[in-house]
Amino acid sequence: METEMSTTKTNLAQWIGRPIEDLPTPALLVDRDRLQSNLTTMQSLVSAHGKALRPHIKTHKCSMLARLQVQAGAIGVTCATMGEAETMAEAGIQDILIANQLVTADKLARAARLAQRCQLKFAVDSDYGIQAAQTAADTAGLVFDVLVEVDSGGRRCGAQTPEEAARLVERILSCRSLRFAGIQAYNGGTSYLADLDQRRQAVAASDRVLAGVLERVRQVAAVERVSGAGAGNARYHLENGLLSEIQAGSYVYSDTTYRDLAPEYQPALTVLAAVISRSLPGYVILDAGLKGVGSEFSSPELLDYPGLRFDHYSEEHSQWEAGDQPAPTIGEKVRIIPSHSCTTANLHRRCFVLRGQEVVDAWAIDAF
Ligand SMILES: Cc1ncc(COP(=O)(O)O)c(C=O)c1O
Repeated sequence: METEMSTTKTNLAQWIGRPIEDLPTPALLVDRDRLQSNLTTMQSLVSAHGKALRPHIKTHKCSMLARLQVQAGAIGVTCATMGEAETMAEAGIQDILIANQLVTADKLARAARLAQRCQLKFAVDSDYGIQAAQTAADTAGLVFDVLVEVDSGGRRCGAQTPEEAARLVERILSCRSLRFAGIQAYNGGTSYLADLDQRRQAVAASDRVLAGVLERVRQVAAVERVSGAGAGNARYHLENGLLSEIQAGSYVYSDTTYRDLAPEYQPALTVLAAVISRSLPGYVILDAGLKGVGSEFSSPELLDYPGLRFDHYSEEHSQWEAGDQPAPTIGEKVRIIPSHSCTTANLHRRCFVLRGQEVVDAWAIDAF
């Protein structure tokens, strides 16, 4: 049975040409012109430095949007999960990096199937990971492209010293079913420093660690790619010139957090919600909460009522303090700018693409 929430092509198409007002709430909305401006701005920045853009699609998890990124000039995509990578390949994206460790047999068996359909790459940071990848590649009778992940300050995955990175590269070189495809180094924390001098210095410190690793690794092998960076620190990594690929993701949609960190990208993602109660004096209650908007970093805002202050979420409600500000009335539909788009988009199965107040397209959010 086709339900109202179905994401088949026909069901999505029925919304095209309708006004926002018709959409059932909560609904995820994408402003097409702002999106295009964000795509162009990031692509131009990266191209101007002579580097490649490999955007992280965890921000939108949407194959239609990934295709637009490639059309705008991206060389391929970065993914966090195997499911994301499988969906991207299904959508025809050729060059796919899973910027993450694959160490279990189930994931590596999927990687082997995927590697037969696209140019797949993934990260390793341990002998265990190298051995597991080698075994899976041997079983499937193919060669995996692997990047050695380096911890350049993020304290997540990655080799901890230049020596360790070089040793992992040597180990890969000795494996007949693995090919050394470069270095993966992402230090996201530097993106969130509000003070730009501090941010630039933090990125420089991170790149100094990376430079040390590259110098040592180049003694044992050529490094064909160095991949990393996010929307908030890409500009500074590009100035330093060590990365050959930029993995930024959040620039496509921005949000109330990234708008302040990187104002050249405009918030393009909103959640449509309806005012369902004005009973509580001074407050507006909306039908979108934690499960429709998500919560990370700073606070959400209302696009058309910036004077209202976010108070708190319940699962399917949000409460906004109006004070003496102009406020929406019961039954009115309003748009929420999320505080972090990456943890909003994944809560929805479709997004409605707008020009002005009209739906011009509807896309499935299909990569998980
Ligand atoms: C490995 C990796 N690369 C790139 C990004 C993109 O960063 P941003 O969303 O700040 O653009 C992330 C974000 O989590 C990441 O984990």
